[in-house]
Amino acid sequence: MADPQEVLAERVSAAVADAFGASHAGVDPLIRPSQFADFQSNVALPLGKSLGMPPRQAADQIVAHLDVTDVCDRVEVSGPGFINLTLTGDWIAGQASGQLRDGRLGVPLAVPAATVVVDYSSPNVVKEMHVGHLRTTVVGDAIVRILEDLGHTVVRANHVGDWGTQFGMLIEHLLDVGEDAARSALSAGEINAFYQAARIKFDADPAFAERSRRRVVALQAGDPDTLRLWQLMVADSRQYYNTIYRQLGVTLTDADLAPESFYNPMLADVCAELERDGIAVISDGALVAFPPGFTGRDGTPQPLILRKSDGGYGYDTTDLAAIRYRIKDLKATRLIYVVGAEQSLHFRMLFAVARQAGWLTDEVRAEHAVIGLVTGSDGGRIRTRSGESVKLITLIDEAVERAEEVIADRYDDPDLRHQIADAVGIGALKYADLSVARESGYTFDFDRMLALTGKTGPYLQYATARIRSIFRKAGLDPGQAAGPITVTESAERALALTLLGFGPAVRLSAETAEPHHLAGFVFDVASAFTTFYEECPVLKAPADVRESRLALCALVLRVLLSGLGLLGIPVPERM
Ligand code: ARG
Repeated sequence: MADPQEVLAERVSAAVADAFGASHAGVDPLIRPSQFADFQSNVALPLGKSLGMPPRQAADQIVAHLDVTDVCDRVEVSGPGFINLTLTGDWIAGQASGQLRDGRLGVPLAVPAATVVVDYSSPNVVKEMHVGHLRTTVVGDAIVRILEDLGHTVVRANHVGDWGTQFGMLIEHLLDVGEDAARSALSAGEINAFYQAARIKFDADPAFAERSRRRVVALQAGDPDTLRLWQLMVADSRQYYNTIYRQLGVTLTDADLAPESFYNPMLADVCAELERDGIAVISDGALVAFPPGFTGRDGTPQPLILRKSDGGYGYDTTDLAAIRYRIKDLKATRLIYVVGAEQSLHFRMLFAVARQAGWLTDEVRAEHAVIGLVTGSDGGRIRTRSGESVKLITLIDEAVERAEEVIADRYDDPDLRHQIADAVGIGALKYADLSVARESGYTFDFDRMLALTGKTGPYLQYATARIRSIFRKAGLDPGQAAGPITVTESAERALALTLLGFGPAVRLSAETAEPHHLAGFVFDVASAFTTFYEECPVLKAPADVRESRLALCALVLRVLLSGLGLLGIPVPERM
């Protein structure tokens, strides 16, 4: 099967070349969805201008050379020179039948495949994961699934914050509390309380602060006992966020951990290389880089700090080592950092220095996939029903609990009910996150995300359950519906045409690292299906129509399951 936009683009390009000569063969045919037809080509507008010809006249000449008889049954020039293109029902039906037979459902593999590092989730050890981390985790995981599905080699990089001077005070606090007590608190997720208690002592008790500072030195010097205590804390936090990953159905495992400490052995060498190449200089005893073009409000150059005057390294240095490692050692040609908007300056400076160093070349694409802020209904922090500000795990549990209330009256069997509620709650949470452009913020709202109608996870899950129930009623297996699909009714035609957008939606999401395109597409499919199902009887239709409509339903089911799978949204069998 083919992407209609691509087919039309080829035909219009050929017509442009025929009408105006081969030198115009390369112009973008500007195929867009149209209000008045299926698609329109806007190419006559810029072309008319460059040819010094009224765009309508250019459009007429293109149409005179346009060969689309097998694809379109209506071609019209409208407005200032738009070429409106209406596909034939037969062509759409033929393509949909092909999509049903295609094991990849019309999503071609990427050529060439690339090695892509996706840096996402990246929580901090001994700090509570917050909703911001939920979003980078969910969006990052969808990006990973999409890229892998297209055949790319994806390296998941969980850049966990497991290093830094705060570990001095945290280790001392652990010793004060006692190893066992501290560990059970940490692995249970009592992370904030632990951190706060350490912080309060650090600020109030000079002796504790002094012990903490000595502990940092011991940690950096690799003192075995200190390292052991640090490792305990890292392991306990890891257990906590692994619980969250499992609950969310996120693909991250321990094998994907490349925490800050992983880069420690590379830091001295990164500094030496940058200093040798004159990219980093000593300033007030510290080693810093001033990438060109970055100045503060008062006009002074902004530094990236490589080595502090006390010899310590920080977040900037680790990220420089990481980018060099990902390009030079992992041989990645695309780096995607799924991180909050507040770090955008950090990444711009990082990329600038990596470019100066010659690591980041034109063959490598580095992008900060910006994540916008999620807020509670009052525009501030998200709170639970009881009004407390929320631990991530509590938020997840509440989503499942509320989902169970939503479906409570439909299932008597508590196990089945819980299993479905789990998928519905998690699906609602994830879809709410994925359906918004990742850069925009949104207001967290349980009621809205759990609604059975509208752009929600449950609505999509429900569409799949409905199709499954059609097949159950028919006593058929959706896997056996082979078509062919024919198209007569307008709702049928609209649904089949929508389905053909699967490949383009996946490709666009991969290209832009924005899963919301795919999230929007699956919603479009589900709502086109809803209209179709209201207007076109399936099981009661005459035999040949019934055959075709069952095949169309089977295609919808497969596309929805595949699309939701790429987004990481669980789908219950029944709902
Ligand atoms: N740990 C950081 C935070 O929670 C995010 C790390 C993002 N990745 C990176 N390579 N800097 O803010």
